[in-house]
Amino acid sequence: MLDALNATVTPKAVRRSDYRAPDWLVPDIALDFDLDPAATRVRAVLSVTRNGAHDRPIELDGDGIEPVSVMVDGEAVHWTRTERGIALTLPGEAHRIETEVLVHPDRNTQLMGLYASGGLLCTQCEAEGFRRITFFPDRPDVLTRYFVRLSADKARYPVLLANGDPVAAGDLPDGRHFAEWRDPFPKPSYLFALVAGDLVANRATFTTRSGRDVELAIWVRAPDLAKTDHALGALQTSMRWDEQVYGREYDLDVFNIVAVDDFNFGAMENKGLNIFNSRYILADPDTATDYDYDAVAAVVAHEYFHNWSGNRVTCRDWFQLSLKEGFTVYRDQSFSADQGSAAVKRIEDVRSLRAAQFPEDSGPLAHPVRPDEYLEISNFYTATIYNKGAEVIRMMATMLGAQKFRAGSDLYFDRHDGSAATVEDFVRAMEDAGEIDLAQFRLWYSQAGTPRVSARLIHESGSGRAVLKLRQSVPVTPGQLEKQPMVLPLKLRLFGLESQKPLTDEQLVLLRDGEAEILFETVAEQPVLSINRGFSAPVVVETDRTATDLAFLSAHDDDPFARYEAMQQLMLDTLVAAVGHGRADHGPVIEAVANTLADPRLDPAFVAEAVLLPSDSFIGDQLSIVDPEAIYQAREALRRELGRTLSERWRAAYEGARDNRFEYSPAAKGRRRLRTVSLGYIAASGAPDASDIAFRQFETADNMTDRQGALTTLVNSGTDEAREAALEVFYHRYAGNGLVLDKWFSTQALSAREDTLARVIELSRHRDFTLANPNRARSLVGAFSVNQRAFNAADGAGYRFVADQLIALDRLNPQTAAKLVPPLGRWRRFDAGRAALMRAELERILAAPGLSKDMFEQVAKSLD
Ligand code: TRP
Ligand code: ZN
Repeated sequence: MLDALNATVTPKAVRRSDYRAPDWLVPDIALDFDLDPAATRVRAVLSVTRNGAHDRPIELDGDGIEPVSVMVDGEAVHWTRTERGIALTLPGEAHRIETEVLVHPDRNTQLMGLYASGGLLCTQCEAEGFRRITFFPDRPDVLTRYFVRLSADKARYPVLLANGDPVAAGDLPDGRHFAEWRDPFPKPSYLFALVAGDLVANRATFTTRSGRDVELAIWVRAPDLAKTDHALGALQTSMRWDEQVYGREYDLDVFNIVAVDDFNFGAMENKGLNIFNSRYILADPDTATDYDYDAVAAVVAHEYFHNWSGNRVTCRDWFQLSLKEGFTVYRDQSFSADQGSAAVKRIEDVRSLRAAQFPEDSGPLAHPVRPDEYLEISNFYTATIYNKGAEVIRMMATMLGAQKFRAGSDLYFDRHDGSAATVEDFVRAMEDAGEIDLAQFRLWYSQAGTPRVSARLIHESGSGRAVLKLRQSVPVTPGQLEKQPMVLPLKLRLFGLESQKPLTDEQLVLLRDGEAEILFETVAEQPVLSINRGFSAPVVVETDRTATDLAFLSAHDDDPFARYEAMQQLMLDTLVAAVGHGRADHGPVIEAVANTLADPRLDPAFVAEAVLLPSDSFIGDQLSIVDPEAIYQAREALRRELGRTLSERWRAAYEGARDNRFEYSPAAKGRRRLRTVSLGYIAASGAPDASDIAFRQFETADNMTDRQGALTTLVNSGTDEAREAALEVFYHRYAGNGLVLDKWFSTQALSAREDTLARVIELSRHRDFTLANPNRARSLVGAFSVNQRAFNAADGAGYRFVADQLIALDRLNPQTAAKLVPPLGRWRRFDAGRAALMRAELERILAAPGLSKDMFEQVAKSLD
């Protein structure tokens, strides 16, 4: 499968079944950094001990570092280079290894290891970046106590941070200074971090429930200080929440967060020193949308929660990645649900699962939540590991109930504190505390693919009985041709079409077999099935419910998620029919949307979600062959008719949701959301004043949510004049603000206009465009490649553009490039013409000289 045509060395797969405990342990390390952006000297003293009876050498990983010297017990020794670093033969049971290496932060464009970002020096070690800093057994089951000394030029780098608690600091000759840090908690090397720079802090004190004071600080460059209050508040809220909901307290005297502009991911949970992509720290009303505010709080919480789910209990090997990520995402989702509308949060989480994870699970890169093998671990920081992993935890929580789930998590933390654990350890703790057998449930960790459930409800009016026939199937995925039935926890309830009342209580059905029947007695009237309520299982449910049934549920279901879902299904059925037949009856959707808009009991935030049509790509996911143009036209036709028919209601909703002053609260957020959604429909209606209304909102907005909402409307459907004027104003207003410029790029890359590709190509030559900054690369290339219609232009020009960018990006930053491959790998879902064009671009990437292992894995698998 993965024989490279041209790769000089075919990368070797790492297999889960090959796991072996480490030959040598490293209980302690002392690190001394002589920091300099051009050449940093790293001295390391490792105390190593033989693990078990064997005579194998110690292997230390090293990547891109220049060895200066290696000594054992004070003597220079002979060492050999291995494929992955160096190996030393050691005679005794315990030794002291001293190494000195040079690294070059300012040449590090991969942003892994020690690198320079906007005048700072910082590190990123997960998953395998520590080996780019010093020689070390860089695997998560080697737990070490770190002592770190940093020295640097004091003027340039006045602040010197590392993990743990500060122990000493002082001045040195030649304008340099030093700081020493000790982390008392043994940790894997991927949690190591340091930061040096000219930073200021927003500080607070948090008193833990047992009465210990923790000094919190969020470090940024001085001009950004005013944008850190929201993150600091979120940190305090999440620390309290973890005490209350999981009984977990913080364990060091300080907790530092640093924001950096160049970062491959969202953020990193390094012990006591979280490092963040600045987009998940900085927020003020003028520059951040409500979505950004929510994301800041969620990511701050996520990284904080890792202190227990990830750091105190870490992963034995990278195949267990979802042990920390799935659980921590579940924890951050629960936290966010508790801060505002739980229903809207669930809708958002399911929407992103469907947008990112379902396509992954049905494509060439599908893999289990606990993978069996990889070439490059960075490629496995996926929606499956994170989001499906969170759904798997959620299902256990649903089956156990809140109390037993908490007992299970307590047991897990108790048993495994201070050690490197496995997914199996987690499941066993849940089994033991929950007194439940999860043998079959474990298939959720080993079988890839989104299960499909078909549900048929048959009512015998004479006998008053109803039978629900359920059937499940798990699709074939790469390397997994045979699947077994899984445990699917399905919450369901029946409603009476006539009485408009529930006919049964909600029940939790565990579908375990390929097929099952559930009998309901005393069903006196025509029942309607509400199933997978709350999205209790991450599956695709297919029913024979009619438009009448779905419209009924969209108005009367008592589960808000099910209500949303019924509306989405009604819209999807309508749009799929329209794509297939060129036209469809829009009536039921229009009526259901009208009813939702008219229901005074509904939260505006919920209304805004419920009345939004499914995205182009989600419609495409329902079809065996995606016709991007037909989908776009069908969706636009429905949008236009909704806009026209309900014109008065959109205008009323728009005016009703007007606020005088910005406030960040769930209610105000909901109003803003409904306002921009209504604006979109007013524009879709083709009303002649739509551009003016949008432009007025753009000009008068006192917050970024309204401003960007208006800009998006103008960019998609404004007059040429209004659109260009708004883009111009926006650009100049935010010149120099990288995070807002990212929005300027992505809004244009996501545009529904015909000339989007031409515009995007032009933007790729803009003086503010650079592939060196991952946020910027994603804001143009990443955003464009999820614009279904523009990316899939029939002549292949969209594919060519993306492939060109990925080849260029791979030379700088393979990790970030490889993450952008999946849209090109979707060729099986398109007509033969597009499929051939996509494959040709994948082949061209594969033939690029010096292609990284990261790209090789993603591209080769995508071609398979
Ligand atoms: N552990 C981080 C998180 O989920 C993810 C992460 C941050 C990461 N930076 C990375 C993963 C670099 C791989 C490479 O919070
Ligand atoms: Zn994480």
